[in-house]
Amino acid sequence: MSHPTTSGDPAAPGTLLQVSPLLPALEKTLDERYRTVRLHELPDPAAYLREEADEVVAAVTSARFGVANSLMDALPRLGAIVHFGVGYETTDVAHARARGIDVSNTPDVLTDCVADLAVGGLIDVMRELSAADRYVRAGRWGAAPYPLTSRVSGKRVGILGLGRIGRAVARRPEGFGMDIAYCSRTPVPGVPYRHLPTARELAAECDAVVVTVAGGAGTRGLVSAEVLDALGPRGYLVNVARGSVVDEPALVAAVREERIAGAALDVFADEPNVPQELLESDRVLLLPHVASGTHETRQAMGDLVLGNLQRFLTEGVLLTPVPTPVP
Ligand code: NAP
Ligand code: 8YV
Repeated sequence: MSHPTTSGDPAAPGTLLQVSPLLPALEKTLDERYRTVRLHELPDPAAYLREEADEVVAAVTSARFGVANSLMDALPRLGAIVHFGVGYETTDVAHARARGIDVSNTPDVLTDCVADLAVGGLIDVMRELSAADRYVRAGRWGAAPYPLTSRVSGKRVGILGLGRIGRAVARRPEGFGMDIAYCSRTPVPGVPYRHLPTARELAAECDAVVVTVAGGAGTRGLVSAEVLDALGPRGYLVNVARGSVVDEPALVAAVREERIAGAALDVFADEPNVPQELLESDRVLLLPHVASGTHETRQAMGDLVLGNLQRFLTEGVLLTPVPTPVP
């Protein structure tokens, strides 16, 4: 059986396997440069893997889908997995490294946009911008003035995970005269912010917590019911990391029972499904995982994907490899 493959560059060293949907402009360039197979669009992916798996030398995927271990195992010549996105918790990097497969992501280029959105979300929930907008549109302004909201400037903000995005978030509210603290497993040298050893202590000391840790098994449920209770009825949660980091049923209960003041959420446990109770609450800002979603940043992410592929296919190394996990 023959399978749909783009012609690409006839001198390309093997097939590029695309595992998940990507931006149309990026897919177009992949088609022009490489013999690309879109596994997710094939009528019979299993047949393709049975018949042509040994042609595949690199795979490209997104942070959302990753590459399953079973797929890595089915591709004997796979040498690189290139992610569109900085998160890569959907790919088992230890498994890949054990098979001699290198893995890359797209760090740094999206940091500013994700941080911008986190701070925008924080201001939105504290000042209830989206809720007040709905109030005006619903024609309720004439009936009663909008209720008072929470001051932003001067408040205490906690960053959960002071990595690239966490540090960029921390720099922004300095301009609002906010006091910044953070929690990470080890204190970050050279930063002027107070380190707190646990998420619970961070939440207890802050008016708002912004979640910027990596996703995956190590951070699953880190923002627990206990952490939400420590944040308290005047506290706000912003999550631009991964839905898995927050105990979502506990968050839904805390919003329902007004045990936290509000939340700005760009990520959810089971995207694109959002719990009904959150959809009905005016105290949460709900965003469809768009923190990196600007023209400029998505273009830069696509360029970095292409840079990684180019470097790997010509020199056998990646531009932005992810760290190899310590066993
Ligand atoms: P990064 O530089 O690797 O930062 C991740 C930070 O998480 C590290 O500083 C790490 O510090 C910390 N961390 C890990 N486990 C922790 C724990 N148990 N407790 C506290 N801190 C912990 O990654 P990044 O570039 O900033 O990106 C962060 C994450 O944002 C990505 O992994 C991705 O999931 C998410 N993201 C979301 C969007 C979106 O569209 N919403 C866009 C981009 C990225 P230690 O190891 O020292 O603890
Ligand atoms: C993207 C992300 O929306 O980089 C990440 O980890 O979550 C976002 O930038 C995602 O990678 C697109 O699939």
